[in-house]
Amino acid sequence: MVQLEESVLLVRKTITTAPRVALVLGSGLGGLCDVFDARVALPYAAIPGLPSATVHGHAGQLVAGRLEGVDVIAMQGRLHPYEGHSLAAVVLGVRLMLKLGATTLIVTNASGGIDPQLGPGSLLAITDHINLTGQNCLVGPNDPELGPRFSDMSAAYDPELLALASEVAGEQGVPLARGVYAGVLGPSYETPAEVRMLRVLGASAVGMSTVQEVIAARHMGASVLGISCVTNPAAGLSAVPLNHADVEATARASAEKLTNLVRGVVARLV
Ligand code: HPA
Repeated sequence: MVQLEESVLLVRKTITTAPRVALVLGSGLGGLCDVFDARVALPYAAIPGLPSATVHGHAGQLVAGRLEGVDVIAMQGRLHPYEGHSLAAVVLGVRLMLKLGATTLIVTNASGGIDPQLGPGSLLAITDHINLTGQNCLVGPNDPELGPRFSDMSAAYDPELLALASEVAGEQGVPLARGVYAGVLGPSYETPAEVRMLRVLGASAVGMSTVQEVIAARHMGASVLGISCVTNPAAGLSAVPLNHADVEATARASAEKLTNLVRGVVARLV
């Protein structure tokens, strides 16, 4: 993976810490980086193989720093397969952060709530995912330096991190639901019939990101925690048509809750 080695070398010139925790911050959730101490940022455009993020609400930079005394690194804004990027580009940031030394990945995203209990602003700890994108970032020659050809996904979302997240949420008085995230390609939102199908399949929420990142992280052996901010009832569950501006606004409004939760989890990582 020449591109990866090249980007690691370049990033190491600016980011000299060895982060323990990597974060991917989704739509409207990038604000967590603002509270990092000793913050160093590097725009994606400066990193070979990382196209600049194009979706509104995604800043498009790698930000390293200290959070709760822990060396962390974050993607402030992610790349999505629906933007037309190759999957190698979509997961390059995650691979890069893990190559820099992170062993835990915390992914956040915005999603549509399929479970009617999950109103806008609800936080959902992802227990598992269903990859419905029809794609997999591990397709192609396998780099054994990164991980095995056939990667185990039976506990993709680490049960201990899930337990820790629930504990921290409980202490903070923040309701944290649990459920399965259905990852779809997008960029059109789902039809009501598709949402009914996803419900039958056992999904609690649906979104257009995360699954490839988690596959790449598990391939490299990282432990993963996924927290979704449910920004809207999924299609057909409310009379209001879906739009990205509302998704972003709701994610922003819940960002503080989510930020505090992630901070609390990072503070307790041993
Ligand atoms: N569907 C897919 N992705 C999303 C949604 C949704 O309803 N809300 C936020 N991201």
